[in-house]
Amino acid sequence: MNPVYIVFGASSSIAAAYIHEIVRANEHAKIISVSRSKLETTYNADIEHFITDYSKQNLAQITDLLKSRELVPHQVVIFNGQLHYENAMPEKKLEELDESYFNSLLNSNTLTPILCLQAIAPLLNHKTPCTITALSARVGSISDNELGGWYSYRASKAALNMLFKTAAIELQRRAKQTRLVLFHPGTTDTHLSKPFQKNVPEGKLFTPEFVASQLFSLLAHPDTLTEIGKPAYIDWQGQPIKW
Ligand SMILES: NC(=O)c1ccc[n+]([C@@H]2O[C@H](COP(=O)([O-])OP(=O)(O)OC[C@H]3O[C@@H](n4cnc5c(N)ncnc54)[C@H](OP(=O)(O)O)[C@@H]3O)[C@@H](O)[C@H]2O)c1
Repeated sequence: MNPVYIVFGASSSIAAAYIHEIVRANEHAKIISVSRSKLETTYNADIEHFITDYSKQNLAQITDLLKSRELVPHQVVIFNGQLHYENAMPEKKLEELDESYFNSLLNSNTLTPILCLQAIAPLLNHKTPCTITALSARVGSISDNELGGWYSYRASKAALNMLFKTAAIELQRRAKQTRLVLFHPGTTDTHLSKPFQKNVPEGKLFTPEFVASQLFSLLAHPDTLTEIGKPAYIDWQGQPIKW
């Protein structure tokens, strides 16, 4: 059976490069891409695109359709995450905390990924190994926080990490061969990092292609990353990050 990949947040630059990696590795792969927007693709590959608003109801419709076709995913990657938009930037001090920005980040960076995982759960079984990865960030590590700032983004990724840790425990019972991964790509040259690239040391700003290739290689051997029931929290080199 051809492997099934599901990519949420497919408009992300890293996601686009990841889809390229999948196609390069296996031209017979079945790719389901999901995004708020239309996706332009020129690949001669089996890619099916769904547009969603990431509501529970809308994601459930995608689940039902995939279930009716008996599609069982082998790999799921959830790329969703935002750091800034229009006039909203990460906080440098307490006074800058803002309800609307906080709620927006918690929604896109935390709630959306766990709703995607919720939508995937009915497709999993005990027989088919599956790895479900969300793009997290090192700044979501509570023990690594020496610099402060970025309250909302840090909180959204720390909460995402907690949700994945909780889901890994449940999935251990419901789908015995499913592993969860939280991945920090490093500072990558995308829309998200654009305003913060000035101070990145030389050689530390990665291309989406580099990061996607690292992630693809790491996920090729998920058993080396983590045990079932415990999510891996790793960086682009596969090095564990302290929680
Ligand atoms: N770039 C970096 O330096 C860096 C560093 C650490 C972690 N990360 C993480 O890497 C992931 C990918 O980011 P990127 O750098 O590739 O950025 P990007 O190109 O700006 O991609 C943004 C992603 O966030 C989703 N998104 C944006 N607004 C959303 C909303 N309101 N609701 C739901 N989804 C929304 C998009 O999904 P749609 O396709 O549905 O629009 C897309 O997947 C993010 O989770 C980010 O936090 C990036």
